Amino acid sequence: MNRLSSRHLLGLEDAPHRDIELILNTAETFREVLDRRIKKVPTLRGITVLNLFYEPSTRTRISFELAEKRLSADTVNFSTSASSVAKGESLRDTVQNIEAMKIDMTVVRHNSAGAPYFLTQCMETNVINAGDGSHEHPTQALLDMFTIRKKYGKLDGLRVVLLGDVKHSRVIRSNIFGLKTMGASVALCGPATLMPYEVEQFGCDVYTNLDAALDGADVVNVMRIQGERQQSGLFPSRREFSNLFGINRERLKRLNKNYTIMHPGPINRGVELTSDVADGDSSVILDQVTNGQAVRMAVLYLLSGREEGESQ
Ligand code: CP
Repeated sequence: MNRLSSRHLLGLEDAPHRDIELILNTAETFREVLDRRIKKVPTLRGITVLNLFYEPSTRTRISFELAEKRLSADTVNFSTSASSVAKGESLRDTVQNIEAMKIDMTVVRHNSAGAPYFLTQCMETNVINAGDGSHEHPTQALLDMFTIRKKYGKLDGLRVVLLGDVKHSRVIRSNIFGLKTMGASVALCGPATLMPYEVEQFGCDVYTNLDAALDGADVVNVMRIQGERQQSGLFPSRREFSNLFGINRERLKRLNKNYTIMHPGPINRGVELTSDVADGDSSVILDQVTNGQAVRMAVLYLLSGREEGESQ
Protein backbone atom coordinates (compact mmCIF):
# COMPACT_ATOMS: atom_id res chain seq x y z
CA MET A 1 0.00 0.00 0.00
CA ASN A 2 1.22 3.50 -0.89
CA ARG A 3 0.62 4.93 2.59
CA LEU A 4 2.79 5.95 5.54
CA SER A 5 1.96 4.60 9.00
CA SER A 6 1.27 8.11 10.37
CA ARG A 7 -0.53 11.18 8.98
CA HIS A 8 2.25 13.42 10.36
CA LEU A 9 6.05 13.40 10.06
CA LEU A 10 7.30 14.49 13.47
CA GLY A 11 10.56 12.53 13.59
CA LEU A 12 12.32 9.30 12.65
CA GLU A 13 12.66 7.84 16.16
CA ASP A 14 9.60 5.66 15.66
CA ALA A 15 9.55 5.57 11.85
CA PRO A 16 9.39 1.98 10.59
CA HIS A 17 11.81 0.65 7.93
CA ARG A 18 8.89 0.39 5.51
CA ASP A 19 7.98 4.10 5.84
CA ILE A 20 11.56 5.26 5.27
CA GLU A 21 11.94 2.96 2.27
CA LEU A 22 8.61 4.17 0.83
CA ILE A 23 9.69 7.82 1.16
CA LEU A 24 13.11 7.16 -0.41
CA ASN A 25 11.62 5.14 -3.28
CA THR A 26 8.93 7.76 -3.94
CA ALA A 27 11.59 10.48 -3.88
CA GLU A 28 13.41 8.67 -6.73
CA THR A 29 10.38 9.35 -8.96
CA PHE A 30 10.22 13.01 -7.96
CA ARG A 31 13.99 13.41 -8.37
CA GLU A 32 13.48 12.57 -12.03
CA VAL A 33 10.85 15.37 -12.31
CA LEU A 34 13.52 17.87 -11.22
CA ASP A 35 15.62 17.01 -14.29
CA ARG A 36 12.75 17.72 -16.72
CA ARG A 37 12.46 20.98 -18.64
CA ILE A 38 9.09 21.64 -16.97
CA LYS A 39 9.62 20.72 -13.32
CA LYS A 40 5.98 20.54 -12.31
CA VAL A 41 3.31 17.86 -11.81
CA PRO A 42 -0.37 18.32 -10.84
CA THR A 43 -0.20 15.90 -7.87
CA LEU A 44 -1.24 18.31 -5.08
CA ARG A 45 -3.51 20.62 -7.07
CA GLY A 46 -6.15 22.05 -4.68
CA ILE A 47 -4.07 21.38 -1.53
CA THR A 48 -2.93 24.40 0.52
CA VAL A 49 0.30 24.15 2.53
CA LEU A 50 1.31 26.50 5.34
CA ASN A 51 5.06 27.02 5.83
CA LEU A 52 5.30 28.14 9.45
CA PHE A 53 8.87 29.22 10.21
CA TYR A 54 9.55 30.52 13.71
CA GLU A 55 13.34 30.16 13.19
CA PRO A 56 15.66 31.25 10.37
CA SER A 57 16.14 28.88 7.45
CA THR A 58 17.48 29.07 3.91
CA ARG A 59 17.58 25.50 2.56
CA THR A 60 14.61 23.91 4.31
CA ARG A 61 12.20 26.81 3.80
CA ILE A 62 12.99 27.32 0.11
CA SER A 63 13.16 23.57 -0.49
CA PHE A 64 9.70 22.98 0.99
CA GLU A 65 8.23 25.96 -0.87
CA LEU A 66 9.67 24.79 -4.18
CA ALA A 67 8.59 21.19 -3.50
CA GLU A 68 5.03 22.41 -2.90
CA LYS A 69 5.04 24.55 -6.04
CA ARG A 70 6.45 21.74 -8.17
CA LEU A 71 3.55 19.57 -6.92
CA SER A 72 1.07 22.37 -7.87
CA ALA A 73 0.01 23.00 -4.25
CA ASP A 74 -0.93 26.49 -3.06
CA THR A 75 1.53 27.81 -0.47
CA VAL A 76 1.30 30.31 2.37
CA ASN A 77 4.50 31.51 4.01
CA PHE A 78 4.57 32.70 7.60
CA SER A 79 7.49 34.32 9.37
CA THR A 80 7.37 35.61 12.93
CA SER A 81 8.80 39.07 12.27
CA ALA A 82 6.03 39.96 9.79
CA SER A 83 3.17 38.48 11.85
CA SER A 84 1.08 39.19 14.94
CA VAL A 85 3.49 37.00 16.95
CA ALA A 86 5.38 40.32 17.24
CA LYS A 87 2.26 41.63 19.08
CA GLY A 88 2.31 38.70 21.51
CA GLU A 89 -0.08 36.20 19.82
CA SER A 90 0.42 32.62 21.02
CA LEU A 91 1.41 29.67 18.81
CA ARG A 92 -2.01 28.05 19.35
CA ASP A 93 -3.97 31.19 18.42
CA THR A 94 -1.70 31.83 15.45
CA VAL A 95 -2.14 28.39 13.89
CA GLN A 96 -5.84 28.10 14.65
CA ASN A 97 -6.50 31.46 12.96
CA ILE A 98 -4.48 30.46 9.89
CA GLU A 99 -6.17 27.06 9.79
CA ALA A 100 -9.56 28.79 9.80
CA MET A 101 -8.58 30.05 6.34
CA LYS A 102 -8.67 26.39 5.16
CA ILE A 103 -5.15 24.98 5.26
CA ASP A 104 -4.55 21.28 4.52
CA MET A 105 -0.92 20.71 5.55
CA THR A 106 1.51 22.54 7.87
CA VAL A 107 5.30 22.54 7.66
CA VAL A 108 6.75 23.89 10.90
CA ARG A 109 10.18 24.95 12.12
CA HIS A 110 10.37 26.08 15.74
CA ASN A 111 13.08 26.62 18.33
CA SER A 112 11.17 24.56 20.90
CA ALA A 113 11.44 20.77 20.80
CA GLY A 114 7.93 19.33 20.61
CA ALA A 115 6.29 22.29 18.84
CA PRO A 116 5.28 20.11 15.82
CA TYR A 117 3.66 17.57 18.19
CA PHE A 118 1.83 20.45 19.91
CA LEU A 119 0.40 21.50 16.53
CA THR A 120 -1.00 17.99 15.99
CA GLN A 121 -2.99 18.53 19.21
CA CYS A 122 -4.57 21.83 18.19
CA MET A 123 -4.87 21.60 14.38
CA GLU A 124 -6.55 19.21 11.96
CA THR A 125 -3.88 19.51 9.23
CA ASN A 126 -1.07 17.07 8.51
CA VAL A 127 2.04 18.35 10.30
CA ILE A 128 5.61 18.03 8.99
CA ASN A 129 8.53 18.83 11.29
CA ALA A 130 11.07 21.06 9.52
CA GLY A 131 13.31 21.15 12.61
CA ASP A 132 12.30 21.58 16.27
CA GLY A 133 14.93 22.81 18.71
CA SER A 134 17.54 20.14 19.41
CA HIS A 135 14.98 17.36 18.88
CA GLU A 136 14.63 16.20 15.23
CA HIS A 137 14.91 17.33 11.61
CA PRO A 138 13.46 14.30 9.82
CA THR A 139 13.41 15.57 6.23
CA GLN A 140 17.12 16.50 6.51
CA ALA A 141 17.97 12.96 7.62
CA LEU A 142 15.78 11.51 4.86
CA LEU A 143 17.54 13.58 2.21
CA ASP A 144 20.90 12.59 3.70
CA MET A 145 19.92 8.91 3.46
CA PHE A 146 18.56 9.40 -0.06
CA THR A 147 21.89 11.00 -1.12
CA ILE A 148 23.96 8.18 0.42
CA ARG A 149 21.72 5.51 -1.12
CA LYS A 150 21.95 7.16 -4.53
CA LYS A 151 25.76 6.95 -4.46
CA TYR A 152 26.23 3.48 -2.93
CA GLY A 153 22.95 1.83 -3.93
CA LYS A 154 22.34 0.87 -0.31
CA LEU A 155 22.47 2.04 3.32
CA ASP A 156 22.75 -1.36 4.93
CA GLY A 157 26.32 -2.14 6.05
CA LEU A 158 27.80 1.31 5.38
CA ARG A 159 29.77 3.00 8.13
CA VAL A 160 28.60 6.59 8.68
CA VAL A 161 30.30 9.05 11.04
CA LEU A 162 28.11 11.87 12.40
CA LEU A 163 30.58 14.54 13.47
CA GLY A 164 30.26 17.65 15.61
CA ASP A 165 27.80 18.95 18.13
CA VAL A 166 26.07 15.68 19.01
CA LYS A 167 24.35 17.23 22.01
CA HIS A 168 22.46 19.99 20.20
CA SER A 169 22.14 18.70 16.63
CA ARG A 170 18.62 17.70 15.59
CA VAL A 171 20.11 16.54 12.28
CA ILE A 172 22.32 14.05 14.14
CA ARG A 173 19.40 12.71 16.16
CA SER A 174 17.24 12.12 13.08
CA ASN A 175 20.19 10.60 11.22
CA ILE A 176 20.91 8.20 14.08
CA PHE A 177 17.33 6.92 14.14
CA GLY A 178 16.97 6.69 10.36
CA LEU A 179 20.36 5.19 9.56
CA LYS A 180 20.14 2.56 12.30
CA THR A 181 16.66 1.54 11.15
CA MET A 182 18.04 1.15 7.62
CA GLY A 183 20.95 -1.05 8.77
CA ALA A 184 23.90 1.36 8.62
CA SER A 185 26.64 1.31 11.25
CA VAL A 186 26.64 4.72 12.96
CA ALA A 187 29.54 6.37 14.79
CA LEU A 188 29.20 9.62 16.73
CA CYS A 189 32.21 11.90 17.15
CA GLY A 190 32.67 15.24 18.89
CA PRO A 191 34.05 16.91 22.00
CA ALA A 192 33.03 15.23 25.28
CA THR A 193 31.37 18.51 26.30
CA LEU A 194 29.13 18.29 23.20
CA MET A 195 27.97 14.73 23.89
CA PRO A 196 24.51 14.32 25.42
CA TYR A 197 24.00 12.69 28.79
CA GLU A 198 23.83 8.87 28.39
CA VAL A 199 24.93 9.08 24.73
CA GLU A 200 25.52 5.29 24.74
CA GLN A 201 21.73 4.81 24.79
CA PHE A 202 21.70 5.62 21.07
CA GLY A 203 23.48 2.30 20.46
CA CYS A 204 26.21 3.91 18.31
CA ASP A 205 30.01 3.81 18.55
CA VAL A 206 31.08 7.00 20.35
CA TYR A 207 34.41 8.76 19.76
CA THR A 208 36.06 11.88 21.12
CA ASN A 209 39.10 11.22 18.89
CA LEU A 210 38.37 12.16 15.27
CA ASP A 211 41.16 10.11 13.67
CA ALA A 212 39.91 6.94 15.39
CA ALA A 213 36.33 7.66 14.27
CA LEU A 214 37.35 8.17 10.64
CA ASP A 215 39.30 4.90 10.31
CA GLY A 216 37.41 2.72 7.82
CA ALA A 217 34.38 5.01 7.46
CA ASP A 218 32.46 5.37 4.17
CA VAL A 219 30.59 8.60 4.90
CA VAL A 220 31.30 11.58 7.15
CA ASN A 221 28.32 13.85 7.78
CA VAL A 222 29.77 17.01 9.32
CA MET A 223 27.45 19.14 11.47
CA ARG A 224 27.38 22.85 12.09
CA ILE A 225 28.45 24.23 15.44
CA GLN A 226 25.10 25.16 17.00
CA GLY A 227 26.16 28.48 18.54
CA GLU A 228 22.56 29.55 19.11
CA ARG A 229 21.76 26.45 21.22
CA GLN A 230 24.95 26.25 23.32
CA GLN A 231 25.89 27.74 26.62
CA SER A 232 29.26 29.47 26.26
CA GLY A 233 32.39 27.56 27.22
CA LEU A 234 31.53 24.12 25.80
CA PHE A 235 34.76 24.27 23.78
CA PRO A 236 37.65 26.72 24.20
CA SER A 237 37.66 28.35 20.75
CA ARG A 238 36.67 27.76 17.11
CA ARG A 239 40.36 27.35 16.28
CA GLU A 240 40.77 24.57 18.83
CA PHE A 241 37.56 22.91 17.61
CA SER A 242 38.89 23.05 14.07
CA ASN A 243 42.27 21.56 15.10
CA LEU A 244 40.69 18.63 16.94
CA PHE A 245 37.44 18.04 15.06
CA GLY A 246 37.70 19.84 11.71
CA ILE A 247 37.83 17.81 8.49
CA ASN A 248 40.81 18.64 6.24
CA ARG A 249 42.48 16.90 3.33
CA GLU A 250 45.04 15.11 5.54
CA ARG A 251 42.31 13.52 7.63
CA LEU A 252 40.51 12.18 4.56
CA LYS A 253 43.29 9.59 4.11
CA ARG A 254 41.82 7.59 6.99
CA LEU A 255 38.52 7.02 5.19
CA ASN A 256 37.60 4.12 2.92
CA LYS A 257 38.16 4.49 -0.81
CA ASN A 258 35.12 6.08 -2.48
CA TYR A 259 34.32 8.03 0.68
CA THR A 260 31.67 10.76 0.85
CA ILE A 261 31.67 14.13 2.64
CA MET A 262 28.32 15.61 3.65
CA HIS A 263 27.13 18.70 5.52
CA PRO A 264 23.50 19.81 6.02
CA GLY A 265 24.49 23.51 5.86
CA PRO A 266 24.92 26.27 6.68
CA ILE A 267 28.71 25.62 6.75
CA ASN A 268 31.19 27.48 8.94
CA ARG A 269 34.04 27.17 6.42
CA GLY A 270 37.43 26.65 8.05
CA VAL A 271 35.82 25.50 11.30
CA GLU A 272 33.89 22.29 10.61
CA LEU A 273 35.66 21.55 7.34
CA THR A 274 38.11 23.28 5.03
CA SER A 275 36.91 24.83 1.76
CA ASP A 276 38.94 22.39 -0.40
CA VAL A 277 37.08 19.50 1.25
CA ALA A 278 33.67 21.21 1.14
CA ASP A 279 34.10 21.90 -2.59
CA GLY A 280 36.09 18.73 -3.43
CA ASP A 281 35.15 15.79 -5.66
CA SER A 282 33.90 13.66 -2.76
CA SER A 283 31.61 16.34 -1.38
CA VAL A 284 27.88 15.83 -2.09
CA ILE A 285 26.77 18.94 -0.19
CA LEU A 286 24.94 20.52 -3.13
CA ASP A 287 23.50 17.15 -4.19
CA GLN A 288 21.98 16.97 -0.70
CA VAL A 289 20.24 20.29 -1.38
CA THR A 290 18.89 19.18 -4.77
CA ASN A 291 17.77 15.81 -3.42
CA GLY A 292 16.06 17.55 -0.51
CA GLN A 293 13.41 18.91 -2.84
CA ALA A 294 12.61 15.43 -4.18
CA VAL A 295 12.43 13.99 -0.65
CA ARG A 296 10.12 16.80 0.49
CA MET A 297 7.91 16.30 -2.57
CA ALA A 298 7.67 12.62 -1.60
CA VAL A 299 6.77 13.40 2.03
CA LEU A 300 4.13 15.97 1.03
CA TYR A 301 2.61 13.60 -1.52
CA LEU A 302 2.55 10.56 0.78
CA LEU A 303 1.09 12.48 3.74
CA SER A 304 -1.54 14.19 1.59
CA GLY A 305 -3.33 10.90 1.08
CA ARG A 306 -3.64 11.60 -2.65
CA GLU A 307 -3.73 8.51 -4.80
CA GLU A 308 -1.56 8.21 -7.90
CA GLY A 309 -3.21 10.02 -10.82
CA GLU A 310 -5.68 11.83 -8.52
CA SER A 311 -5.37 15.63 -8.49
CA GLN A 312 -8.90 16.96 -7.94
N1 CP B 1 19.97 22.14 6.70
C1 CP B 1 19.14 23.10 7.14
O1 CP B 1 18.20 22.84 7.90
O2 CP B 1 19.43 24.36 6.67
P1 CP B 1 18.52 25.65 6.94
O3 CP B 1 18.64 25.99 8.41
O4 CP B 1 19.10 26.73 6.06
O5 CP B 1 17.11 25.30 6.59
